[in-house]
Amino acid sequence: MADNDSSTAERGAWNSKLGFILAASGSAIGLGNIVFFASNAYQFGGGAFYLPYFIALFVLGIPVMIAEFSMGTMTGRSFPMALSRLVGKKGEFVGWWSLGSALFITMYYVAILGWAFCMMVGAIFGLMEPGATAPFDPFLEPSAAPNAQVYFFGLLASWWPMLAVLAVWGLTLVALWKGTETIEKTVRVAVPLMWVFMIILIVRGVTLPGGTDGVMYLFTPDLAGIAQPDVWKGAFSQMFFSLSLGLGTMTAYASYLPKDSDQVNNSFMVSLLNCGFEYIAGIAIFSMLFAFALNPVGGTLSLSFFAIPQGIAAFPFATKVFGFAFFFLMVMAGVTSAISLVEGMASAVIDKTGTSRASALAMVAVPGVIGSVITTLPFIVDPGLGGNGTVGLNFLDILDHWAFGYSLLAVGLIECVLLGWVFGADRLRAFVNQHSKLKLGAWFDVLIKYFIPAVLLTVIVWNLYLDL
Ligand code: PHE
Repeated sequence: MADNDSSTAERGAWNSKLGFILAASGSAIGLGNIVFFASNAYQFGGGAFYLPYFIALFVLGIPVMIAEFSMGTMTGRSFPMALSRLVGKKGEFVGWWSLGSALFITMYYVAILGWAFCMMVGAIFGLMEPGATAPFDPFLEPSAAPNAQVYFFGLLASWWPMLAVLAVWGLTLVALWKGTETIEKTVRVAVPLMWVFMIILIVRGVTLPGGTDGVMYLFTPDLAGIAQPDVWKGAFSQMFFSLSLGLGTMTAYASYLPKDSDQVNNSFMVSLLNCGFEYIAGIAIFSMLFAFALNPVGGTLSLSFFAIPQGIAAFPFATKVFGFAFFFLMVMAGVTSAISLVEGMASAVIDKTGTSRASALAMVAVPGVIGSVITTLPFIVDPGLGGNGTVGLNFLDILDHWAFGYSLLAVGLIECVLLGWVFGADRLRAFVNQHSKLKLGAWFDVLIKYFIPAVLLTVIVWNLYLDL
């Protein structure tokens, strides 16, 4: 046996199906749903984006999630060891590679959360309001205009995010301390709260004068836009990230479920909750965008990090409440995702070596914390910051480019090929159907063996072409 069976007793198990659904949807719902979805939808022109995205959910997202969940329940192991058991050593290699990318993603993911954390604190102290000065940068002039952008740039140029990053890593590790037990406790509080805060923001957004225009923008089909192939590319890549696929996370979480769990049902629940949250986050963000007539300048983060706060800050008295709500939501959604990223890695180390949870966590957290801190260092973020109104996040952009644009998708591609062709899509489907109410048809095999690999390969080659 290639892996360590003695760890079985320590692996942990979810207390209830609800615990698992909350944890998995907490993983899926994250910065991707708020920051990246909104900026993609904005970049591709609202109504052009959501239809391809919706299609991607059914032809790519749900089938791959069914596969990743089933790997967990079939083997009771996390990603590399699950693949190793199902398809042999080459599978295990792909598993570790994907966890390597997970580590890099965690580094910058937590860095962004550090900035969100600072913005949240800043909102409470009214630092984003007109006339406020960022306290950590004496060179910043108090500005009469709404100040969120100045504040954000001040933050990036300061050392505060480094402390915030340590705080976010601390929270994440506390939640992971006793495995499923503490993860479940955390998500039982955090995930429902996320929905409550999102609903507050949506109500605020759509009741603003002009707010519904944003909703129209987001949901009015734009047929010319849909005909653009890069909208589809954006939608397929975003779907993969948003559902936490290709990074071993979902397999690790599913490995704590009983063998006979209904993975079709679980996949539908988790992915619909995720995409539901994404659309309502889109409504909240776009309604504010239109109500405040904001015009976010380039860069993925600019929309959420200063366009929206700037709008919120322009609003009298509500700044503190809504500014706080917006960033609190971001932090919570992000922390429940970071927890899952780290758990995916730590559980793989435990499965492979049989080491204690504490040392597995340390093996992941030490490089992770260092990477997150480096990502936020003022001189790494961007030396020419703020000059042209965009944020050049050098290190983050590089990590994001490789992990998001290639690694994640390549893992998805190889995983589908291995499961579809080496293990056998029909065997996988037979296993799933044994325990599911809704039975998968032969279309599932076609998606896993041909369609999804073809789509992912196309996106990868296309990205390469753009890069060269
Ligand atoms: N799905 C998360 C998000 O949307 C990110 C994530 C990816 C988390 C992969 C875990 C694993 O933000």
